[in-house]
Amino acid sequence: MKISVKVPATTANIGPGFDCLGMALPIYNTVTIEETVLPGTGVEINVLADSASIDELELEHIPSDENSLVYKAVEALYNSIGQVPGELKITVKSSIPVAKGLGSSASVIIGALVAANELLGHPADEPALLSIACELEGHPDNITPALVGGLVISSQEEDGSVLYRKLEWPQEWAVTACVPDFELSTDIARSVLPKEVALSDAVFNVQRMAMFIQAVHTKDTELMKSALQDKLHQPYRMKLIQGFDKIYEGLRFNENVLGCVISGAGSSILIISLRNDLEKIKDTVKETWADMNIKANIKTLNVEQNGALIISDDED
Ligand code: HSE
Repeated sequence: MKISVKVPATTANIGPGFDCLGMALPIYNTVTIEETVLPGTGVEINVLADSASIDELELEHIPSDENSLVYKAVEALYNSIGQVPGELKITVKSSIPVAKGLGSSASVIIGALVAANELLGHPADEPALLSIACELEGHPDNITPALVGGLVISSQEEDGSVLYRKLEWPQEWAVTACVPDFELSTDIARSVLPKEVALSDAVFNVQRMAMFIQAVHTKDTELMKSALQDKLHQPYRMKLIQGFDKIYEGLRFNENVLGCVISGAGSSILIISLRNDLEKIKDTVKETWADMNIKANIKTLNVEQNGALIISDDED
């Protein structure tokens, strides 16, 4: 039996929603798990770059051994029903840039879990898959939209369960992903965050998060401009993302720009804007990075409403 699962990229945090907000984007990884018949062959993992990739992939960052996230996810699912993985061939066809803040690790975790779950006859329901995935990833904001699609608010509860709700992203607002040629590992980007923050900074984010939800519900562009700010992670990570401060300044007075935020833990930048000034906005980012000798891939993307999907081999 051979199962393939296509999983979208995700952008997390989206300004005020650190470890809470996430949105699926139409760039995909495909995870295929195949039962092999030869006993003693163990688990073989192959990672291939998809020709549809928007970025040159640094594939060496996805270790092809049993310590890799893909294997850990498969193993966690088997273990949850008291089994261990047998002879399996796992292939990851990768289009999502690695270590660029677009949810590549969440996508392989979700792809591996959904494929293994299908192979085993659905022992895990959606809440169980989310809990296992969140345990592996450490936070729910990329994991949840990778599984269910769309714009999602999520939290991990004390018992390990993931609570989430979907919001509807206003079509009037364009989402532009700006992917630079330099990487930033989530571990490094999390290591610069303080263990404690000032109450005033926490209050700032609670206010912006409340504004975000109301702005999305009512398509309130002016409210969204105030909402797309953050004091919990961006001030600390800015210095790790070359050019972010200049791009932010360059777009600050463009009335069509609603916000310029770090995508996930970086290095990509996400720009939320109206749709009528997109070329100028993209040029600002491109030229700022070009002046710093940074190449970039900049694309306006729709929100992907589908999460992980089991696909047939010919779609693979
Ligand atoms: N919320 C996470 C972070 C997303 O910002 O560290 C990246 O995994």
